[in-house]
Formats: sequence, C-alpha cells, structure tokens
Amino acid sequence: MTQRKNKVVIFLGPPGAGKGTQAERLAREGGLTKISTGDILRDHVARGTELGRRVKPILDAGQLVPDDILIALIRDRLAGMEPVRVIFDGFPRTTAQAEALDMLLEELGAPVSAVPLLEVPDEVLIERIVERGRQAVASGQTPRADDTEEVARKRQQVYREQTQPLIDYYGGRSHLRHVDGVGTMDEVYARIMGTMP
Ligand code: AP5
Repeated sequence: MTQRKNKVVIFLGPPGAGKGTQAERLAREGGLTKISTGDILRDHVARGTELGRRVKPILDAGQLVPDDILIALIRDRLAGMEPVRVIFDGFPRTTAQAEALDMLLEELGAPVSAVPLLEVPDEVLIERIVERGRQAVASGQTPRADDTEEVARKRQQVYREQTQPLIDYYGGRSHLRHVDGVGTMDEVYARIMGTMP
C-alpha cells in the first residue's frame, strides 16, 4: 500500500486575491484539509462564543486578531494529524505566525511544500470584495461585515504592513511561487497547479 505523504501548502495573497476559492478546490482534488483562519474566526462570531465576542470588533474593523490566539487555534488543528496534508488559507499573516508555524511543522516532521502567492491589482481586489458583499445582500444572505469598500481598503493596508514581509520570509526559503491571480478561476487554478512540486 502506498503511504500518503505529508503535504503543506500555504496560500499567500492580499484580501480578495482568491485564496479561499482556490484552496477549496485544491483541497478537494488533492485530498488535503483546508484550514481557513478567517472561516474559523467567523464561525466563532456566528456561534457567539467567548472567542467570537472578543474578535468580532477586530474582524469588523479589518485589523488582525492577536498572534497568540491564531497560533493556539492552528496548534489545535494540527494536533495528532498524521499524515499532515493541509492547505493554509489566511495563515500565517505575520512573521511571528510564520515562525510559530515552522516550529509546529518541525515537531510534526512536515516541512512546507509550496507557497503560491496570488497577485491581483488593488482595484480588482476592491471590486471583487465589494461585489461579494452586494451579491450576498441581493440573494438575501448576510454579507461579511468587512466586505465594504472602506474596510476592504483597511484590510489592504494591514496586508501591506503586516503580511507582505512574508513574501521575503518564504522567498528566502525557496518555497514562494508568484501566480497571476487575474483570469478565470480555472485559469488561475491551472497556474497554481503548475507551481506544485
Ligand atoms: P480572511 O477570511 O482570511 O479574509 P481575507 O484574507 O481578507 O481574504 P478574503 O476571504 O476576502 O479573500 P480571498 O483571498 O480568500 O479570496 P476569495 O477566494 O474569498 O480574514 C478575515 C479577517 O479574519 C481578517 O481581516 C482578520 O481580522 C482575521 N484573520 C484571519 N486570519 C488571520 C490571521 N492569520 N491572523 C490574524 N487575523 C486573522 O475571493 C474573493 C472574491 O473574489 C469572491 O467573491 C470570489 O468568488 C471572487 N473571485 C475569486 N477568484 C476570482 C477570479 N479569478 N475572478 C473573479 N472573481 C474571483
């Protein structure tokens, strides 16, 4: 029997770049578990947990939730995973998170396999996010509180200040692959697949 190997993929890219969309498909087709920190946090908010109540104003303002909370969430998700076959969507977002993830992965003997960086111009990102908010309203769903133009621009600024340094972090470790994130979802997916080891 062939043993399934560890695989760790980290999606990097600004808000609205398509990380969640592409990670979902890669997880389905590649037999990987998608870990989306945004989804985990929004689920806590929706369920009104203590953590959800604490982080709601932070999400609504487009700021980052403190590193210790995120690192603890990820440690829990990875605990006992064997083999480690995961896609991270939205984590890590700071250098401290990246360093903590490296330590967790080292303990598990599962090094990072690939870091696709989805690149999309700022104005296209804003359009995508605002459009998602509009469509949610039109279809009677609850839009994400951070899918307004004002908060989306704040999220872009936070990305530039706190997450962009990870491009150098992973670039220096030879994992980073630049991917043009403009085009149909199929086109972007094919480009991502072309970067996978
Ligand atoms: P999170 O949920 O991670 O949001 P985000 O990174 O801001 O990104 P989005 O989900 O908006 O975009 P995406 O790149 O996943 O694109 P998507 O596929 O959705 O984080 C939310 C908040 O949680 C943060 O602001 C922070 O407060 C907190 N948080 C989360 N993780 C944290 C962490 N590690 N540390 C601290 N705080 C954290 O696509 C966007 C839209 O575009 C969709 O409508 C989609 O249909 C559309 N689209 C996708 N691809 C295409 C395409 N090729 N063409 C046209 N449209 C497309």
